[in-house]
Amino acid sequence: MELNKIIQGDCIQIMKEMPSRYIDLIVTDPPYGDNVGYGWNNKTIINNENPLINCTALVEMYRVLKLNSSLYLFTNWKHYPFLTEFISRYTKFKIRHLVVWEKHNFGLGWAFRHQYELILVLEKGKPKYNLKNFSDVQTASHINHNKSNHPHQKPVDLLMKMIEHSSKVGDLVLDPFAGSGSTGKACEKLDRKWIGIELDEKWINRREKDNGK
Ligand SMILES: C[S@@+](CC[C@H](N)C(=O)[O-])C[C@H]1O[C@@H](n2cnc3c(N)ncnc32)[C@H](O)[C@@H]1O
Repeated sequence: MELNKIIQGDCIQIMKEMPSRYIDLIVTDPPYGDNVGYGWNNKTIINNENPLINCTALVEMYRVLKLNSSLYLFTNWKHYPFLTEFISRYTKFKIRHLVVWEKHNFGLGWAFRHQYELILVLEKGKPKYNLKNFSDVQTASHINHNKSNHPHQKPVDLLMKMIEHSSKVGDLVLDPFAGSGSTGKACEKLDRKWIGIELDEKWINRREKDNGK
């Protein structure tokens, strides 16, 4: 499988083509299943109406991860109870921790603005962690929506923190719901190899355009 690029396709099918115990770390941000549009342009993403998509993918994610490795899984407060119930009952992952991503910046508007998102830390075996100062509240700026960017683009500095904490130089990191490819960018800055998978060609083309390809 080609490394350091986003593969276009359904992550469940593509992960099925990967050998077992192949990946050192997974960092991913699946659709939350809340079926809403985002930002001024009310953009939607594929499978956002499907709260089961990340559950189904978790089974393959477990298989492709090496023993003693971690998975960082973005979620939100609505999907969290359903997701943790599924993980505990139907996967072999251990739920190690819940990290809160606190956004420096959040827009004003109606009541209860979203200033945080959640990141579940799941373990296969007993992974080692590298940073002594990694807090369970991580602060990073939210990326504002514009007409052309991905409505869920995640900050590269936040992703780098998790990658640094749970992998070493040269390790292979997977993001099966890659979107605009932020995880790949974070890996490149930290000299990790990476594989991204994204179903929607639009975001892959957008990334290539931004990178001047
Ligand atoms: C929340 S977004 C990820 C955004 C990404 N973290 C970023 O920084 O740009 C989730 C992505 O998963 C993609 N997706 C949905 N179902 C998928 C599937 N079955 N296989 C691969 N990608 C999928 C969507 O098209 C969407 O771009």
